[in-house]
Amino acid sequence: MHITHLSLTNFRSFSRLDLDFPREIFLLVGDNAQGKTTLLEAIYFLSTFTSFHASSDRQLISFTAPNSGIAVGRVVGEVQRGNGQHRIEVRLIREPNGVNGNLRFRKEVLLDGVKRKINEVIGVFNAVIFLPQMARIIEEGPSERRRFLDTLISQVSPQYVAHLSDYGQTLSQRNALLKQLAERGGDTGQLAVWDGMLARHGAAIMRERIRAIREVEAEAKRIHYDLTHGREVLRLDYQPAYDPLPRPEGQMTLPVSAPADRSGISQSEIEAGLLVTLKQLQREEIARGVTTIGPHRDELRFLSNQVDLGEYGSRGQGRTALLALKLAEVAWLHQRTGEWPVLLLDETMSELDTGRRADLLGALSECDQAIFTATDVSMFAESFVAQHPVWQVAGGMVKMG
Ligand SMILES: Nc1ncnc2c1ncn2[C@@H]1O[C@H](COP(=O)(O)OP(=O)(O)OP(=O)(O)O)[C@@H](O)[C@H]1O
Ligand SMILES: [Mg+2]
Repeated sequence: MHITHLSLTNFRSFSRLDLDFPREIFLLVGDNAQGKTTLLEAIYFLSTFTSFHASSDRQLISFTAPNSGIAVGRVVGEVQRGNGQHRIEVRLIREPNGVNGNLRFRKEVLLDGVKRKINEVIGVFNAVIFLPQMARIIEEGPSERRRFLDTLISQVSPQYVAHLSDYGQTLSQRNALLKQLAERGGDTGQLAVWDGMLARHGAAIMRERIRAIREVEAEAKRIHYDLTHGREVLRLDYQPAYDPLPRPEGQMTLPVSAPADRSGISQSEIEAGLLVTLKQLQREEIARGVTTIGPHRDELRFLSNQVDLGEYGSRGQGRTALLALKLAEVAWLHQRTGEWPVLLLDETMSELDTGRRADLLGALSECDQAIFTATDVSMFAESFVAQHPVWQVAGGMVKMG
């Protein structure tokens, strides 16, 4: 799969941009703050419809757009997938709400000119992004890893996107009720409807996570084994907050040598188990005013030779594991969709040593399209630069070199 055309209007620093892209590996080179990351962010937006670094989509609309009245940021991509061509358009709209003049924000997604729900368009275009701040996946808290998992699975499963959204809404309603019951008392029977919905959506999310982690792990393990020349064995250890496969007492603290296999557990078993556990925890959850189990509290750990990389890994080990993980994401998307995703690599070369750079370039050979950014072309081997287009990004413009 590849993107053939990108058009931006009022998207961050680009007030207007139209670009045709070649179906190959190419480089975007430019000084700091010229718009390189923004271009990758815009392309990635067409696959996930959320930004990888803005805390709110509002921030994507250009500062230069008018502050009052209506402002629209737009990303349009033409993508080629197998024999099919599609046009994906996202409109980011900021407008007065008509009541008190406050600005409200909404997002519209169009596929081939027709307005659609986001989960009807997700999966039309798949991309994998490599970012300098990716180390957070391994180094920081569990929410980074859940975000990684959710973005990954969302690209192949519109149902997952729908369950995540319903789960999130149910969770806030249930938490509000728990708080209310804690503060003012009332009929605890009111929880039943939220428990049922939480268990249903929660089980669907967990089932997808179990499958995806298992499949991605198989790819990551193979790639990581090669990257480390057989010295390290990588494992992805899913630790669900509600575990349908309870471990014997005390085992959590021991090195986990036997991976837990949850692949045989059906969605309805997970749902039933989660529901029972929610009931068992009811008194405690009312006292705390929050839902303590379910996929919003899941954890995923990365182990190399059974050592937790988040806790004990060296920086280099972390980077190698991440590279394996991202390349596994590429292979997994190909396996699930039959298409190679577009690779977006932001400052990736400067993060890697010479050996890893060569490993990465080797792994890209099968992809249709990969876009690298760099501040300096010297990050790339001369032979590589000679073979691939190098474009200059400066002041919101892109010049083909
Ligand atoms: N909403 C916005 N409106 C206008 N400009 C914005 C907006 N958001 C960010 N910018 C600006 O866009 C510019 C380009 O940022 P970007 O991160 O794409 O640069 P870059 O080329 O990747 O730089 P670096 O090499 O430092 O990573 C920055 O100067 C930033 O302040
Ligand atoms: Mg950048």
